[in-house]
Amino acid sequence: MAGGGLATSAAGEKEFEAKITPIVIISCIMAATGGLMFGYDVGVSGGVTSMDDFLKKFFPSVYEKTQDPGLNSNYCKYDDQGLQLFTSSLYLAGLTATFFASYTTRKLGRRLTMLIAGFFFIVGVVLNASAQDLVMLILGRILLGCGVGFANQAVPVFLSEIAPTRIRGGLNILFQLNVTLGILFANLINYGTSKIKGWGWRLSLGLAGVPAGLLTVGALLVVDTPNSLIERGRLDEGKAVLKRIRGVENVEPEFMELVEASRIAKEVKHPFRNLLMRRNRPPLVIAVALQIFQQFTGINAIMFYAPVLFDTVGFGSDAALYSAVITGAVNVASTVVSIYSVDKLGRRMLLLEAGIQMFLSQTIVAIILGVKVKDHSNNLGHGYAIFVVVLVCTFVSAFAWSWGPLGWLIPSETFPLETRSAGQSVTVCINLLFTFVIAQAFLSMLCHFKFGIFLFFSSWVLVMSVFVLFLVPETKNVPIEEMKERVWNKHWFWKRFMDDYDHTVNDEKNYREAISQFIKKLTNKCGMNCSFNLDC
Ligand code: BGC
Repeated sequence: MAGGGLATSAAGEKEFEAKITPIVIISCIMAATGGLMFGYDVGVSGGVTSMDDFLKKFFPSVYEKTQDPGLNSNYCKYDDQGLQLFTSSLYLAGLTATFFASYTTRKLGRRLTMLIAGFFFIVGVVLNASAQDLVMLILGRILLGCGVGFANQAVPVFLSEIAPTRIRGGLNILFQLNVTLGILFANLINYGTSKIKGWGWRLSLGLAGVPAGLLTVGALLVVDTPNSLIERGRLDEGKAVLKRIRGVENVEPEFMELVEASRIAKEVKHPFRNLLMRRNRPPLVIAVALQIFQQFTGINAIMFYAPVLFDTVGFGSDAALYSAVITGAVNVASTVVSIYSVDKLGRRMLLLEAGIQMFLSQTIVAIILGVKVKDHSNNLGHGYAIFVVVLVCTFVSAFAWSWGPLGWLIPSETFPLETRSAGQSVTVCINLLFTFVIAQAFLSMLCHFKFGIFLFFSSWVLVMSVFVLFLVPETKNVPIEEMKERVWNKHWFWKRFMDDYDHTVNDEKNYREAISQFIKKLTNKCGMNCSFNLDC
């Protein structure tokens, strides 16, 4: 870019002079291991849960049920609150940790918050891999959850602050791509370790130490973001870091803007209260609804419990584990599709197409299971079993190019600056809360609803698609600062919430316009003899 320090991107956003420097690339790779870690934790629990040695040690009653051919219902084999707590406790802890994380991210910086996350992850992994009883196991999951809470708050903020504007959107989805890669690695490792008698599950849980270690080392090596340094009053350091990461000497315009943004952010005394103001209602309602709906697509029933689910409907333990690998791979590949299409096809198009695809696949799975899987026997034939896996993949792919990344992207681009960080905290909290609900309830719901569980989720897909159709506006290629004019003001429903938006500014604008018209008329009447200056 030319030496003026400032330019305008294709999307109309201001862009500062910046190279994509090695330090930016390395920082991003390091920080993104936070996503890998989160994904690994999501994917690992289902696999170990379906391993006999693990069940025998921690959940002997569940193990007995899985071995009992006379059991009342096949769908109830894994219905156990303790087993569900093993998966869900992580999300409950993550939810709680988010509140502390938003404080440390501001006061201690993004880098130190990532280091705290890495520390929690490592202790959690050690406890899990060496667990002797259920208490150690759950305690380990709780510590991992704390890591997730700190990492999920700090990493996305770190990424978006360190990256030049033009690659910011792509980086946002990169985090999600890492989550899906983490899930896939966990599935692959579970498939391998399930063959190791006795301690295979320990290896699965212990290998989470790899991304945990990477994140910790990464946090030690990276520099904190200029925004964070400036926010904490370390202006000179902030400017020096900005020069290093942008790879140019002339960082004055961007530096001034960061100082100004930090001043404005400090003026917002009650960001959470601001969030509730009428004019902030549209992005808030949309962010909350997207998180609830994202979880009620039923995606985590598959991500957490695919091996258990496939086993329930009659796959052998081995087939169940490699089917989970297949769905994991489809998840990764389809997320890549999203990176390429989100700014071309737009958010609404992806969400609506995916709605139809998810509704159809879930409904057909329900019909096949309803007709083919009887309570006491696993008689889903080979052909149908393959068909079910294909349908599950169809469902996962639709999720992965729509609700997966967009559930995070849309909130991050619709909140105005004054409420952006508070909005991000609420988004993460609601997401983890409903992830917890699904993790804790799914196996019991499967036991009670049986194949109807898929109809339950497909009905939700219908509701959320109608929500998107009427209430989610298109934000493709709209610069964040122009959201109000170009999106909310023009929306048939949300425009009514804009009436208290910046009354002072708008009144002044209207007033000046009226006077300007008046002066034009006067000037026309009396020619060039009279002149008025609005600014005096
Ligand atoms: C969701 C996670 C889910 C993952 C699956 C994310 O967007 O928030 O709950 O496990 O996608 O890829």
